[in-house]
Amino acid sequence: MKSMVIGGIILIVALMAGTYFVAGDAFQSDDYINSLTMLGALAIIVITVFTVLKYVNQIKNDTASGELADENWDGIGEYTNPIPSGWGLIFIGSIIWMLWYFFVGYPTNQFSQIGQYNEEVLENNAKFKAAWENPTDETLVAMGESVFLVQCAPCHGVDAEGIAGKAQDLTHRMSKEQVLDVIKNGSQGLGYPMGAMPPMMAQGADAEAIATYVAGGLKGEAPASFAACSSCHGADGKGMNGMAPNLVDYDNTLMSKVLENGKKSSIGEMPSFKGRLNETQEKALTSFLNSIKAGE
Ligand code: HEC
Ligand code: HEC
Repeated sequence: MKSMVIGGIILIVALMAGTYFVAGDAFQSDDYINSLTMLGALAIIVITVFTVLKYVNQIKNDTASGELADENWDGIGEYTNPIPSGWGLIFIGSIIWMLWYFFVGYPTNQFSQIGQYNEEVLENNAKFKAAWENPTDETLVAMGESVFLVQCAPCHGVDAEGIAGKAQDLTHRMSKEQVLDVIKNGSQGLGYPMGAMPPMMAQGADAEAIATYVAGGLKGEAPASFAACSSCHGADGKGMNGMAPNLVDYDNTLMSKVLENGKKSSIGEMPSFKGRLNETQEKALTSFLNSIKAGE
């Protein structure tokens, strides 16, 4: 016991020295509040050390009393003590508190960070909407460019010309190879009302002629074989009522479908941007892409 008290006193001195080392300046100042705080720290150290000493001593020297239960585990027995009433009350109390907390407390109607975050998002979305209610074409192009540089440029390149092997060149609607690829393999996953496009019968010269025509922006006279396409994509290739994609321009329907569903083909895979951009931003991206297309 004696050695433990000596050890305790050494510990107190060490802790006080540590406290003084870290916060000694406060002790030396004129402000009596600081001095009171230091005294408080001292009191806490002394009380803590002696309380711990008391219990360590008890663990070392106490012997238990009472009647042993019949069963034991590998020689470790158990006393048949009644449950301490304080412990029992806390146990039942915590079950009641848990039920209250779960059904009445925090999760249902108290402050919640997630709730506040959602509210602020809604608020800012409304502000965004109000601020850009009727954007001019110029505004849309500028907004589209800034969204593009942040969200899209990592794959499509800062000038939208695509990064070799990584993503599509967006300064042209489609390249000849892409159109040939779609004719041969079909297209799916964009979620147009018409559904997926099956691989087409057109082959050889016919396919070449169609692909050249489509990649060229559908200018001039359509090759006869384009009739196989116009039943869905329209005679002008702009898609009928948004049933199948517009093959001439990027339009808002294509943009929102690509952003919502992502796209996967032989070139690579574009992830979905679902929920990450609002309608105005999607329109802005369409305007931006068409503006660089027009300016080529
Ligand atoms: C992780 C890379 C990646 C990012 C980021 C990305 N894309 Fe793409 N994108 C691709 C790939 C790959 C393709 C080609 C997919 C294909 O042809 O199947 C593509 C194709 C496209 C197409 C052509 C779709 C079509 O059907 O013709 C458009 C339009 C497009 N991306 C717009 C965007 C916009 C706008 C953003 C930014 C909001 C963006 N992309 C971000 C990889 C990406
Ligand atoms: C049965 C209707 C139908 C016919 C016929 C059809 N298409 Fe399609 N096409 C679609 C649909 C629907 C999609 C979009 C499918 C998807 O990816 O979800 C599509 C997608 C495409 C795409 C990809 C567009 C993009 O941005 O990714 C190209 C290119 C295309 N079609 C070209 C053609 C050509 C060329 C022909 C004629 C040889 C043709 N289509 C015939 C319905 C059709």
